[in-house]
Amino acid sequence: MTEISGKVAFVTGAASGIGLALSKSLLGHGAKVMMSDIDEELLIKEFQSLNNPNVAMTVCDVSKPNSVSAAAEQTIKTFSKVHHIFNNAGVSLAGFPGKIALEDWKWITDINLMGVVYCTEKFLPLMLSHGESGHITNTASMAGHVAAVGMGPYFATKYAVVGYSEALRAELGTTNIGVSCLCPTWVKSNIHNTISKSPVAGKNDKYKKSKSYEIVKALIENGMDAEVYAELCIKGIKSDRLHIFNDPAAREAMTERHKLLQKDYDQNLVDLEK
Ligand SMILES: NC(=O)c1ccc[n+]([C@@H]2O[C@H](COP(=O)([O-])OP(=O)(O)OC[C@H]3O[C@@H](n4cnc5c(N)ncnc54)[C@H](O)[C@@H]3O)[C@@H](O)[C@H]2O)c1
Repeated sequence: MTEISGKVAFVTGAASGIGLALSKSLLGHGAKVMMSDIDEELLIKEFQSLNNPNVAMTVCDVSKPNSVSAAAEQTIKTFSKVHHIFNNAGVSLAGFPGKIALEDWKWITDINLMGVVYCTEKFLPLMLSHGESGHITNTASMAGHVAAVGMGPYFATKYAVVGYSEALRAELGTTNIGVSCLCPTWVKSNIHNTISKSPVAGKNDKYKKSKSYEIVKALIENGMDAEVYAELCIKGIKSDRLHIFNDPAAREAMTERHKLLQKDYDQNLVDLEK
């Protein structure tokens, strides 16, 4: 059983959507929470509205190692220790292959993948240093298990986060630090608008006219309440579950992918024997 009550949790992307809901759930389950986000204005607004002595905030851009180090220092200065990290900050990016600017590819990779790596590398030694149990929770996506058209860079980073989480879980198996990987589908948030912050595609509103933007926007707006998903996550983390899904409808697509993998694998074995 992973303990939450009385523990200190560092949450990235905490000013909106899933990160904000996780911060509220953690507080509700008795944790102390360091909320962090790149969006200072929104972070201050949400932090102040919580009005809770067990929460603090620090501005942090997860794509910048120096910013992550400063956030770690602030967390220790505020709460003395850290037990849980929620590597949740993320952005989306759509586009047809061959038409996606490399600067945008770098932008999404630096946040969605390297942000998780920077925080883990910085915080894990601090989590191990005091000997008390803790947990790393990485927000991937259902898009880390099944890929489709429209959002190649997003799928690539999320597959990477699933792989990294599984490797971390194996690596930390002999320690008292657990690892979970959040794999949500369609949770109410602002994720569909994060492309506006990308260095090239975000320069104009063209992306808003694409069919894939309209579809994703509608699915997000009609998605699961972030608070409901956050509670499901806390339940999964308490049970030390590796993958935390929320969408019964997406299971079939994952099964189809696994069937395809096995079919290709078996065919290759047949080819080997020829
Ligand atoms: N909402 C969904 O349906 C869904 C589905 C699958 C995965 N996810 C993942 O959930 C996570 C949270 O996203 P959300 O849906 O709550 O979206 P959101 O846009 O509401 O929240 C993301 C937060 O991350 C912050 N952020 C962006 N860049 C950052 C950076 N460089 N450093 C620090 N913070 C940064 C944003 O300011 C924002 O507050 C993301 O990793 C996203 O990919 C969401």
